[in-house]
Amino acid sequence: MQILTKIDDICRELRKVRLSGKIIGLVPTMGYLHEGHLSLVDVANDNADVVVMSIFVNPTQFAPNEDLARYPRDFARDEKLARERGVDYIFYPESDEMYPAPYFTYVVTEQMAKVLCGVSRPIHFRGVTTIVAKLFNIVQPDVAVFGQKDAQQAIIIRQMVRDLNFPIRIIVAPIVREPDGLALSSRNVYLSSEERAQAPIIYKALSEAKAAVEQDLAEAGQIAGQIRQTILTTPLARIDYVEIVDDRTLQPVKVVEPGTFVAVAVYYGKTRLIDNVYLKER
Ligand code: PAF
Repeated sequence: MQILTKIDDICRELRKVRLSGKIIGLVPTMGYLHEGHLSLVDVANDNADVVVMSIFVNPTQFAPNEDLARYPRDFARDEKLARERGVDYIFYPESDEMYPAPYFTYVVTEQMAKVLCGVSRPIHFRGVTTIVAKLFNIVQPDVAVFGQKDAQQAIIIRQMVRDLNFPIRIIVAPIVREPDGLALSSRNVYLSSEERAQAPIIYKALSEAKAAVEQDLAEAGQIAGQIRQTILTTPLARIDYVEIVDDRTLQPVKVVEPGTFVAVAVYYGKTRLIDNVYLKER
């Protein structure tokens, strides 16, 4: 495994890989790897000959009041885990390598970036699409793998790839969960033991909603109401949103139909957790 920090160096290395006819897979991350990220590496290895992982805590997707400075980092551990899991290249740039001053250009997916997490994080998806577009141009992967846990992010990236004609296949890999159902996230380390004990209610509420839909409940308002009620049985929970939306447009639906999923964001203390479940597959 090679670790490269400069754009010119990774471009030079990957040009050779491409010329040898190998398929390149990209797994973009912000590091502090857990099994969720590593499952993306497995999917990339199944779909590509060479796997590139980027590790970059992207400042443009954090608002000034968010957790950029305290976002967990441990490059030595990430390096070891990535190597053991079969990553071929880590791209690990500094901030001024990715955003040399002056920096003015952003990629925006307009209204898709303004709903769900975009309501409380208005600049977040502009930062995500900008850095992912830059990584796509630098790495020029054939396939890129994202996690279903960040469902809105994955849907927005698919849309960006389609709108801007990136010749890249996007694969979305399933959510990896703790045994009690909590979705893996780098931010789980912020939870106190009390918060951690209460947080699995999120997945329980989503699973009950899915079961209710299987029993023919279809009215979105009613399903969302039940999810809220269940989550609020844990006293430390503060709901940011519970939305039942279409997986192509991210617009709310009134009745569950193929492609409908429920997405939630819930605060436990200062930690904002997100999760989602398909109510009906397409
Ligand atoms: O999902 C993440 O970790 C980040 O949003 C991403 C896609 C690596 C862009 O910074």
